[in-house]
Amino acid sequence: NLPSKVKIKEVGPRDGLQNEKAFIPTDTKVEWINKLSETGMDYIEVTSFVHPKWIPALADAMEVAKRIERKSSVTYAALVPNRRGLEGALEADLDEVSIFMSASETHNQQNINKSIQNTFPVLKEVVSEALSSGKKVRGYLSTVFGCPYDGRVPLSNVQKVIDELFDMGVYEVSLGDTIGVANPKQMDMVLSQLLQEFPAEKLALHLHDTRGMALANTVVGLMKGITVFDSAVGGLGGCPYAKGAAGNVATEDLIHMLKEMGIETGIDLSKVLTSAKYIERELGKGLPSKQLQIWNSA
Ligand code: HMG
Ligand code: MG
Repeated sequence: NLPSKVKIKEVGPRDGLQNEKAFIPTDTKVEWINKLSETGMDYIEVTSFVHPKWIPALADAMEVAKRIERKSSVTYAALVPNRRGLEGALEADLDEVSIFMSASETHNQQNINKSIQNTFPVLKEVVSEALSSGKKVRGYLSTVFGCPYDGRVPLSNVQKVIDELFDMGVYEVSLGDTIGVANPKQMDMVLSQLLQEFPAEKLALHLHDTRGMALANTVVGLMKGITVFDSAVGGLGGCPYAKGAAGNVATEDLIHMLKEMGIETGIDLSKVLTSAKYIERELGKGLPSKQLQIWNSA
């Protein structure tokens, strides 16, 4: 009972690049995003308006957001941690914003410098302002399947934060396996529980592939009725405030698997590979994507 069509949300320009040590020139980011816009993707998270001291790799957020060529068929989004970040996204007139927090106390503290309890009022204000400015808001919840500091995260904590995020007015919550620790059995258990409370249409999966389990977990998600998946071209990505976090599942590997399973994404795999090759060359290092490695060796 698999869906016939799924939506992929490309997070490469944000999650993919935020952890890169060498600063990627703004021109490269803009050119890459423009290439991604030509692949048939309809959702790209292009940057984040966070403190440049915390994420120096994306210090050029405003320039990137303003300079990309925007297609009307694509939703362009950015991550915002607070009011200051939202103001940036509004100034650039991006289509959507994403707020983010963690299900575990220590990761939340490390990542956004606040306790979970003190994060709620900040995000509540962001969502309310974004909505009144006509922007939809997506919510990310990190460390759903495990935290690099606190270990296993009680599902009751996860449920509580998701409840708060929906109460604020986000249209979707993307469940983050921030450090790629989820296994398919755990995914089945967690989703079975969450789907008793929240509809599948309002949940997405954001899977890092640290231990090579992201595609296996994706299949469980599909079987549970999840139809929105985040991924990053090339398999780039990682959170600097989660030790051991590796890349997101590679967009081209996800598309390939779905295609083989007869599930439509509307994205052109060969164009995605061309864009993966472009960023691989610019970064000057091999990327983890399997499809790209096959393409490179062909
Ligand atoms: P803070 O230091 O507590 O902020 O940082 P503050 O409110 O106390 O302000 C301190 C200074 O920062 C002030 O400047 C503010 O104006 C400035 P000063 O008066 O000292 O000159 N400031 C800002 N500057 C630029 N942009 C802003 C901003 N806000 C305040 N938006 C803060 C709190 C949240 C800003 C900081 O902790 C931060 O930027 N954190 C970002 C961390 C991050 O981006 N992590 C990676 C993304 S999350 C992720 O990857 C997980 C995800 O992929 C899902 C998953 O995989 O699980 C989404
Ligand atoms: Mg992530």
